[in-house]
Amino acid sequence: MSVFSAQKITENVYWVGAIDWALRNFHGYQTSRGTTYNAFLVLGEKLTLVDTVKGAFYDEMMARIASVVDPSRIEVVVSNHAELDHSGSLPRLRESIKPLQIVASPMGAAALAEHFHWDASVTEVKTGQTLSLGDKSLRFVETRMLHWPDSMFAYLEDEKVLFTNDAFGMHLATSERFTDELDHSLVEWEAKKYYANILMPLSSIVKVLLKKLPSLNLDFEVLAPDHGPLWRKEPHQIIELYDRWATAKPTRKAVVVFDTMWQSTAAMARSIGDGLRHGGASAILMPLEGSHRSDVATEVLDAGAIVVGSPTMNNQLYPTVAEVLTYLKGLRPVGKLGAAFGSHGWSGEATSRIEEQLKEMKVELAAEALRHKYVPTTEVLEQCFAMGARLAEKLAQRVENSGE
Ligand code: FEO
Repeated sequence: MSVFSAQKITENVYWVGAIDWALRNFHGYQTSRGTTYNAFLVLGEKLTLVDTVKGAFYDEMMARIASVVDPSRIEVVVSNHAELDHSGSLPRLRESIKPLQIVASPMGAAALAEHFHWDASVTEVKTGQTLSLGDKSLRFVETRMLHWPDSMFAYLEDEKVLFTNDAFGMHLATSERFTDELDHSLVEWEAKKYYANILMPLSSIVKVLLKKLPSLNLDFEVLAPDHGPLWRKEPHQIIELYDRWATAKPTRKAVVVFDTMWQSTAAMARSIGDGLRHGGASAILMPLEGSHRSDVATEVLDAGAIVVGSPTMNNQLYPTVAEVLTYLKGLRPVGKLGAAFGSHGWSGEATSRIEEQLKEMKVELAAEALRHKYVPTTEVLEQCFAMGARLAEKLAQRVENSGE
């Protein structure tokens, strides 16, 4: 008996991926619960593997395949995405089993060549093309920039499984293979975190794909992403969530993100939070001493406002605040209100630097910056409270205007 076994997904599809329980950092995104690299074995007349796993997990994948079939019988390997967490095992696999065919999108074929500097012949497939596996067939949909230029879906019509690569995934290591076997709020949070930190800047492309999806005649019952559990009961749940996240309608939620040197900026943050709540908004306070940038991004995804506070240090932003603003700028949140605040000693540049960054992010400055020298007085905290209440009012107006 193998130490690793495959898990059956549908009649002729097996999960043969790997579980990375230890991963805590994925490109700067804090993966607090690890991840999985999903690969799928399709038992067609032509035995087919859809995607591989990160190189370090090659043996685990091979053992799972071997629990079902002799890996050397695999004839076709589909590479939906060239990023190394999915293609890292491909060169070794090719060397070992010598598949008759490696299949990728045209951009995928180029990306694989640029990664592996190999002489492999790769069959290029475009949107709408099918590949016969003998008694079954795969149909392909290029999903450029979701999230790389080469990304692609593969659809196994015979078993109604759509292999979606990174899309609809999450970084979550579990022994269960399906979302319906897990706590729903955990699944939704991790899917949201994944969307916020990877797909938020590509929301306009997500919207185009979702609009196009019905016309692609993909009558799927299982959505099989390459990270985390698969969606089999009501797979449309995650599509509806993607639609909501990509659309980013106004909400009455504000994220107050800040760091503090001597608790003065923190006191201002708490008063702004109280003012927001008093005005009917939901306030999420995120002190950067205890909040990771990827959790801030997750909360920002469905927030209507970002309120940023920083002490001034050596004429600059506090380093943690500068870091989170740089990170958020890359994720391009849309349609947010914003404001700046902070305590300083003698020069006090932080609030104007925050405003510059928010403007670059196309955040609409909705309140005058609040800056105060040293420890805030009761009067200053009242001004902070009033700022929060004013922002809450503006959020409410926006929600009302949007008809939500
Ligand atoms: Fe999971 Fe873009 O790799």
